[in-house]
This record gives sequence, structure tokens and C-alpha cells, in this order.
Amino acid sequence: MTDFETVDYFTDPSLVPDPQPWFDYMRDKCPVSREPHYGVYAVTGAEEANVVFRDSDTFSSCVAVAGPFPPLPFEVVGDDITELIAQNRHLMPMNEHMVTMDPPEHTNARSVLFKLLTPKRLKENEEFMWRLADQQLDEFIADGKCNFLEAYAKPFSLLVIADMLGVPEEYHDEFRAALGAPRPGSTVGSLLKEAVGLNPLEWLDEKFSQFISDRRANPQDDILTALATAKYPDGSTPEVIDVVRSATFLFAAGQETTTKLLSASVRVLGDRPDVQQALRDDRSLIPNFVEESLRMDAPVKSGFRLAKKDTTLGGVDIPVGSVVMYAAGAINRDPRRFEDPHTFKLDRKNVREHMAFARGAHSCPGGPLARVEGRVTIERMLDRMSEIRINEDKHGPIDDRRYTYEPTFILRGLTELHIDFTENPNSPERSEGN
Ligand code: HEM
Repeated sequence: MTDFETVDYFTDPSLVPDPQPWFDYMRDKCPVSREPHYGVYAVTGAEEANVVFRDSDTFSSCVAVAGPFPPLPFEVVGDDITELIAQNRHLMPMNEHMVTMDPPEHTNARSVLFKLLTPKRLKENEEFMWRLADQQLDEFIADGKCNFLEAYAKPFSLLVIADMLGVPEEYHDEFRAALGAPRPGSTVGSLLKEAVGLNPLEWLDEKFSQFISDRRANPQDDILTALATAKYPDGSTPEVIDVVRSATFLFAAGQETTTKLLSASVRVLGDRPDVQQALRDDRSLIPNFVEESLRMDAPVKSGFRLAKKDTTLGGVDIPVGSVVMYAAGAINRDPRRFEDPHTFKLDRKNVREHMAFARGAHSCPGGPLARVEGRVTIERMLDRMSEIRINEDKHGPIDDRRYTYEPTFILRGLTELHIDFTENPNSPERSEGN
């Protein structure tokens, strides 16, 4: 039995299968509670988290992804460390990516994305998703079973981002192989293995540097050219590497997270045949289903900020230099915000108040994309499979399931999900009437 008073949230494997009891314990003590091992202030309440997300004058994102690891590369002195952060930022993990930046650098880095995430582009990308969903399903549907993460969720979420960035389709197999989601039986994977080495993000940086430099030299009528010629809000032209980082970070931020959302949703379809049936009967419930899946199993279960000055949050004093953790997995189950928070409810009225995509200046720009990915996937699976079941040999019977989750304090996601299904021989072309 875990002793919540002393357990180390960041390293204790006992919290991986289900962190909720610890989140509840911390919230019951106080929605802003200091954990004993690293002195991190855990924010487990929705109202309090909202303040953290929206106050970037007080809370810096410089520790957004790493939290208390490694310790700050400077000694906290004085009552305002804004300058100290600026001087030492280059020593902090992932400092080259927008998620750890503060204004004005953050505003510039994010502005590059506006060229991409336009309503027109999202619409085109959705068209691609409908085609892609069928292509992915075609790869394994005749087998009547699959490991959903490998067979569908990983390649699907990867290729959606590739398409969003305008990577021409002839490169898609190469991207799949390089980023760990090769097409079954593909030989590109083994050919690339040596070329890519161990660092797919470096491979991506190189690939996009080529794309962007090429489009700056030879503009075409395509998305990569739009990205290559994007300007900062003050009219200046970003360095190639800065455009590249805004682009490649989308793979880091969007692939694993969406894979986790898709697999969490499909797990519910298998674990809750009543919910599956309700969705089959009324497809208009799918968007709410996706939201409730995000609420119940926030793929980013925690993220971090650094207090730039002394402050007070939810009545708790937070000294300058403290690491503050927003625990989305806990915030989304705050009983003051969500009635009966640990129950999956398809008809939850205020489900969109969840904070799985955070809020404020850093709120996830890929949220609309991830939502559509969820909707398209569930629509096509329901169309093309007449019954979706969890594989009991792998995961046990319905009243005694065995699932394993990735051992990280940041993300929440299944390591594998084996499903069985019956192919629907009369599946409609696609159910979205356009
Ligand atoms: C279910 C899927 C997803 C979830 C749960 C999710 C969650 C989040 C969260 C919580 C943040 C805020 C991090 C912080 O400030 O500490 C974030 C930021 C971000 N996400 Fe997502 N995300 C998802 C999908 C995507 C997709 C598909 C993309 C892109 C195609 C994407 C791109 C980004 C980017 C670029 C940021 C950084 C934004 C900034 O710092 O201003 N995400 N995401």
C-alpha cells in the first residue's frame, strides 16, 4: 500500500498505472500543495491552475517540460529572477523550443505557426485525415485484430502532422520509418536505420532545413513555401533554423500526445460496450466522447512553470524560484469543477472545461487538430468494424483488465492496446456527409 505522504511522484513506479489516488490525496490536502522530495508545488485544482496558465508575468515556462530536473543552472537570489532566467536560459532543457519560451521570444516562435494553422489548412488537413484513416485501416483490417498503437495510432498521428506541414506524400514512408512507425514489410526502415542513427529529431531538423532552404531559394505554390517565407510580427525574417524548430517541434508535441488520446479513446470503446453502442446509435455524440476521453486520461498529465517572484496561489505562499506543477490529470478530475469526476460520462455538460490542452499563451495550438483526429478515427472505426473488443488474452477479462502505461511523470498513455474486431463488409464510404 502506497504511503502518499512520502511517495515520490516523479520516480515511484507504483503511481504509473493510476496516479489518481495521489492526485486526490494532494488535492484533499490543498489544491496547491508542496511535495516533499523536490519542493515542487503541485497544482491539482482547476481554478488555481487557470491562474498559473494565464499569468506568464509571474510564472515562467522555462522549466515547462523538465520540471525539477535537472536543478536550476543558477542560484536563486533576489526577489525577481526574470533576468537570471534570461541569462541562463540557454542552459535549460529544450530551450530552443517554443514551449519553454516566454514573451517576446515565445510570441515570435508561435507566430510562425499561424501560417500553418489557418481554417483553410485545417480543412484540407481534415480531408487528408479521412483518406489516411482508411489507408491505415486497410493495412490490417482483414486480420480481425491489431496492436492499435503500432498499427494505427502512431503512423496516423505522425502523418497528419507531416501533411499539416506540407511534407509531400512521396516522403511519407521515409518519415514513418525515421520516426518509428514504419509501414509493415517496408524496406525503407532498414535502409534508414543507419542514416537516422539514434536521434530522429536531428534527422527531422536536417530534413526541414533542406525543405525550408530549398523553398526560400525556389518558392513554389505550397505549404512549405508559406512556412519558409513566414515573417515575425515585426516584419523581420526568421533564421532558417528558427522556422525549422517551430516545424519539427510539432512532431515532438503532437505525435505522442495524439497517439495517447486515440488509444485512450479506443480503450473506452472496448471497456464500455454501452458507450460504443451509444456512439453507433448517435454519431453526434463522438465529439463529446473525445472530450471526455481527454478529460479522463489527459495525455499530458503534468507540466511545469517557475515562479519568477514571490507570489500567492490559492492562499498558499509560493517563494521566488519555486517549481510549480500543473497536474492536468488532477485538474480535470477536480470535484469542484466536475461532478462525479472519476466516472466516464458521455453526456457531461461542461466537459470542454477540461484543461488537457492547457490554457493561456501556451495553450496547445494543435488542439483543434487532435480533436478532429479523434473524431475521424472513431467515425471510421465504427463504420468499418461492427464490433470492437479488447483482446482478453493480452489484457484480461472485462472485470479484471491489465493495462500497462508508460513510466513517465509527464505523459499518460498505454504502452500497447490489443483489440479484436469484426470487419463490417458493408461499411459506408465515409459517414461525414461532405
Ligand atoms: C491530444 C493531443 C494533445 C495534447 C493533450 C496536447 C497538450 C498540450 C499541452 C498541455 C500543451 C501546453 C504545454 C505547456 O505550456 O506546458 C501543449 C503545447 C503545445 N502543443 Fe499540444 N497537445 C496535443 C496535440 C498537439 C498537436 C497535434 C500538435 C501539433 C500538430 C501540438 C502542438 C503543440 C505545440 C506547438 C505546443 C507549444 C505551444 C506553446 O508553447 O505556445 N499539440 N500541448
